[in-house]
Amino acid sequence: MQRHFSVPANFETAIAQALADYKLSLNDSKELAKCVLALSDFFINEPEGQTPWHESWAQVAYLCYYLPLNAARLRAVIAEGEKRGFFQDLEEVMDFGAGLATASLSLSESQNLKYTLIERAAEPQRLIEKYFPFFKSEEWIRTINKSKIKNPGKTLALFSYSLTELSDLPDWAYDCEALMIAEPSTQQDGRKLMQVRTKLLEKGFHVWAPCTHEGPCPLLTQSKTDWCHDRIHFDAPKWFLSMEEQLPMKNRTLTTSYLLVRKTKPAPIHAARVVGDTLKEKGKDRQMICRGPDREFLAWMHKFKIQQEIPRGALIELPPDLQKVSNELRVPVELTIK
Ligand SMILES: C[S@@+](CC[C@H](N)C(=O)[O-])C[C@H]1O[C@@H](n2cnc3c(N)ncnc32)[C@H](O)[C@@H]1O
Repeated sequence: MQRHFSVPANFETAIAQALADYKLSLNDSKELAKCVLALSDFFINEPEGQTPWHESWAQVAYLCYYLPLNAARLRAVIAEGEKRGFFQDLEEVMDFGAGLATASLSLSESQNLKYTLIERAAEPQRLIEKYFPFFKSEEWIRTINKSKIKNPGKTLALFSYSLTELSDLPDWAYDCEALMIAEPSTQQDGRKLMQVRTKLLEKGFHVWAPCTHEGPCPLLTQSKTDWCHDRIHFDAPKWFLSMEEQLPMKNRTLTTSYLLVRKTKPAPIHAARVVGDTLKEKGKDRQMICRGPDREFLAWMHKFKIQQEIPRGALIELPPDLQKVSNELRVPVELTIK
């Protein structure tokens, strides 16, 4: 069972209306793709640079490409959080580097919270207030400091693709009860996020997802190249597919690196998370899992005639008596996805 996410209908309508401001429609594939390429090149050349919101091509690219893609990724992260009860008892959200409110828009689909958006550029606020009237925010502010956190025990600090533009988490975030961080799923940002995890654990936070334990992260400590990320399927609308035909990058599946942490301890979890795609090898298929500080794999031996491909990022129940050979757990029965 793969995990599929799409663009919500009300987002699509709002994006189409906003594009009309630039004399564009969702069907102007070539013009839209040119804007996307320009912003993609900008992010590649200046990975820590500030999103150039003053440029109309950057606004168009965010509306028709980064907003739908990031919203799909965030919906997957939010669904994972909701499964664990992560958002329970929270009342306020501080969405730092909100951009087009991507994360708050996505979270507000299911969580009725008070959303404050912190965004240094003015253009995103104008676009959201004009074209996404279904989203109700408390306020938009340009900067934030500790005094702005009035109710820390009920506040979620939200960093959606914005930590990448900072050297470290800002001080005020450590006062908040909960943090949700999503980062570009690149090796560099992904490994930086795993180091942020270590720091948050040292400061007394507990990880609710994706980690199933609070020990050292095996992807960080036992490998110099791995980084934790999950994978979802993106069910793109037709106009998006036409635009994508003009682009070198394809997005049938999307990866996400994220962290959900709180000061409150989560309920114990008796599960492992699948952190690798299927590796087809001679005599067996393998997928990496995480359930503690060891780097471990599930192995489906072809001779047992059980074939299973578990979505990367899913939680699974492990039978108690699995045979372990080296770093491989031999799977004797079909595993249950939680
Ligand atoms: C890559 S965008 C992410 C936008 C959005 N959160 C998303 O998920 O699509 C990062 C945003 O952070 C904003 N930003 C970066 N540093 C900031 C700061 N110090 N204060 C406020 N906003 C900041 C940028 O203007 C930009 O809109």
